[in-house]
Amino acid sequence: MIRLGKQLEEKSRELNYSYLTAPPSRSSSLAPTHLPRLKTLSFWTSVSPLPFLQIPLPFPPLKLRLLAPAMSYSEVDASSLTLFLPRAAISPILAVTLIAFSVLWFFPGGIAWALSRAHACSIPGPSGFVSALSGSAAHRVLAGLANSHKAIDLMAFSVGFTRFVVSSHPDSAKEILQSSAFADRPIKESACELLFHRAMGFAPFGEYWRNLRRISSTHLFSPRRVTAFGERRRAIGEQMVADVRDLMAKNGAVEVKKVLHVGSLNNVMMNVFGRRYDFGKGEGSELEGLVKEGYELLGLFNWADHLPLLGWLDLQGVRKRCRSLSKRVNAFVGRIIDDHRVMGRISGGVVDGAGDFVDVLLGLEKEEKLSDADMVAVLWEMIFRGTDTVAILLEWIMARLVLHPDAQSKARSEIDAVVGNSRPVADADIVSLPYLQAIVKESLRMHPPGPLLSWARLAVHDAHVGSHFIPAGTTAMVNMWAITHDESIWAEPNEFRPERFTEEDVNILGSDLRLAPFGAGRRVCPGKAMGLATVHLWLAQLLQSFDWVPADGGVDLSERLRMSLEMEKPLVCRAVPRC
Ligand code: HEM
Repeated sequence: MIRLGKQLEEKSRELNYSYLTAPPSRSSSLAPTHLPRLKTLSFWTSVSPLPFLQIPLPFPPLKLRLLAPAMSYSEVDASSLTLFLPRAAISPILAVTLIAFSVLWFFPGGIAWALSRAHACSIPGPSGFVSALSGSAAHRVLAGLANSHKAIDLMAFSVGFTRFVVSSHPDSAKEILQSSAFADRPIKESACELLFHRAMGFAPFGEYWRNLRRISSTHLFSPRRVTAFGERRRAIGEQMVADVRDLMAKNGAVEVKKVLHVGSLNNVMMNVFGRRYDFGKGEGSELEGLVKEGYELLGLFNWADHLPLLGWLDLQGVRKRCRSLSKRVNAFVGRIIDDHRVMGRISGGVVDGAGDFVDVLLGLEKEEKLSDADMVAVLWEMIFRGTDTVAILLEWIMARLVLHPDAQSKARSEIDAVVGNSRPVADADIVSLPYLQAIVKESLRMHPPGPLLSWARLAVHDAHVGSHFIPAGTTAMVNMWAITHDESIWAEPNEFRPERFTEEDVNILGSDLRLAPFGAGRRVCPGKAMGLATVHLWLAQLLQSFDWVPADGGVDLSERLRMSLEMEKPLVCRAVPRC
């Protein structure tokens, strides 16, 4: 029994409380002044890396883990030593609770799986809660766990009360992505508050979602539209080349992502809204602010999505920020829709092939017609999905080319051979540049922009993956990063070697799950052709115009997973103009 301060012991007797105790070494700092605080401590939030709790019950000692990472060790140190409960209540309730909790906690796959109908489930996985998704290297942590639990094919785990499975193998990945059972997406609170449940990416699988896919694949992502936008894409690429020249003249180095971000945002704005923006001033800077805040909110790991009580409390302030952002987005995009309505009336409502996506949505009729609120959601999502991924992928590619001058000069020689130096490279040349395409594939393999999270799918009904039973409501993910770094699938997976894709033709659009950076199945990325056309052309333009060499700080390939997998330290390098 521990040495409690005399006063404290007396007080506990006086109040008729029982106590749970910790070893003597931890009790020395316990003072009577702790009493009010101790009484308010809930059992669930107080347990620390405590060794053993002794309790006056016919109950074996229990080893419990920290559940409240927000509490610092020093806070926990004294206060977690003793838990006071009315003596009458402690025995049966606490005993049952502790037994139940430890059974749930140590269940393979964790608490959420223990509470599911899949009690006979044989999917291996870590017990307790996995907090990896809140970190910036979730794809690596999950790959490590899958290895250590021998659960490459499928691993079960719990995040709060959410049940997850993750596949790190092409076969089970294919089953998940191509099965109609996993055609839904789990909706986060932030996405819902930002109205994204009415946009294509988060809309539940059903008629509304099908309608959006049909409209966008006909009017925004069709090969004809992608080709028709080639000239605008080239003009934006040329503007980026001019910006790089200016920045080099001014600073002697370029932060590549800044230039790429403005270019991609303008590219999407041209396709979707039919206009460009001057970033850094007026409406342009307002738009930048909205997009930045949206990225942050959607990329944030929100515990409220997995612990319902926290959802109510909004401790991270996500709901509040989302509501404020959604008002500003509604006003901004609503204004653009109104402008298009006015212009439509003036021109007699004629939308020809060159009209933008807002015109297309306004021109829909009967059952296809969308409300203004739905239009805002759909348009806003395109900006998000289209900008981030393209800029991030191109930054990784440029980083790799700065680090691998041999690959860079091989790609440039290919461009020179096909295009020469008398005219600028164009969309139509890309098909004749296989090595450049191989560089893009190899970069997608090493640095998939959506290694994990943008892939999440929700089981709409009970299903099987292999022999494993997956109850409806389970969130399923594919760890594409783990697959593309698996040495049983890719020889020397950590080596940047574009040649592997000239030696073997690998389809990256969703039919070969060894490398499917755009997903697969019904919810495969609809913007893949547009995204790839943009990345190929801009890469060719940047290589045709400059030699890219390291700046003084070199290249740091550390990564950080937010909404997408980004470079943690922005690439800064020198672009030497070619004569
Ligand atoms: C390099 C560029 C891109 C990459 C790597 C990428 C990757 C992805 C991935 C991994 C998914 C999830 C697929 C799945 O669940 O199977 C996705 C979905 C989606 N992407 Fe992309 N994407 C890119 C460009 C774009 C562009 C340019 C747009 C539009 C302007 C876009 C719009 C979407 C939409 C709307 C969805 C949701 C589809 C649905 O749930 O039905 N993406 N993307």
